[in-house]
Amino acid sequence: MKRTLAAQLLLVAVVSLAACSGGAGTDTKPGSTAPGAQSGAGWTGTTNPKDVITARFQLMVQIEKLMLPIDMLAVQGGGDPAVLSINAAAVASMLQAFPHLFPPTTDLYDPKAETPATIALPAIWQDFATFYNLAGAAAKAANSMAAAEGKDAQLAAAAQLRASCDACHLLFLRKYEKPKAKASDADFDFDAALPAK
Ligand code: HEC
Repeated sequence: MKRTLAAQLLLVAVVSLAACSGGAGTDTKPGSTAPGAQSGAGWTGTTNPKDVITARFQLMVQIEKLMLPIDMLAVQGGGDPAVLSINAAAVASMLQAFPHLFPPTTDLYDPKAETPATIALPAIWQDFATFYNLAGAAAKAANSMAAAEGKDAQLAAAAQLRASCDACHLLFLRKYEKPKAKASDADFDFDAALPAK
């Protein structure tokens, strides 16, 4: 059957409309399929990989904030036990959610980029079982912290919890690199850069 020109135009319009229907917040090009991409409603790793990366990064940043009074225990030796427990319980549930934010389409670390899309290393997808287990172990450590009673038990649980963060970061997070000082930095005129008094 031969389509009329009008029918063909309509088809083109419908197809391009469908391709654009991702709407705001969609960050893949229509028709692009990243490795491991799944189709179907709800596969946000396919439609919004950058949003998934932002979500997991923000989750970690908030975890770090909740950890502050827990880390301070070892330094100050005190803290409100109720706050410590509430924070640790929140960290535990966040760590439970965390490993589910790693669809293969978010394996986007670029060692050459100054600000890569993610600082999660490809090693995660090469050894996902280890990554997943470390997340589980960290969530468990956070739950133990939440349940710990008495200063000694809290101190021990806090140290274990922090060690569980470090264990995962050591294997799966880009190493922190200090900004390199350049020889020209020594010649920088700090006085000239400051506002005049
Ligand atoms: C199972 C692995 C894993 C565990 C456990 C884990 N993290 Fe992370 N963390 C990551 C990954 C992966 C990223 C990078 C995510 C991204 O950018 O895509 C990250 C990023 C971060 C960041 C932001 C990166 C930076 O250095 O600025 C902070 C802060 C952080 N984590 C704190 C914590 C704390 C605190 C804990 C423990 C309570 C913890 N993490 C436990 C894997 C983990």
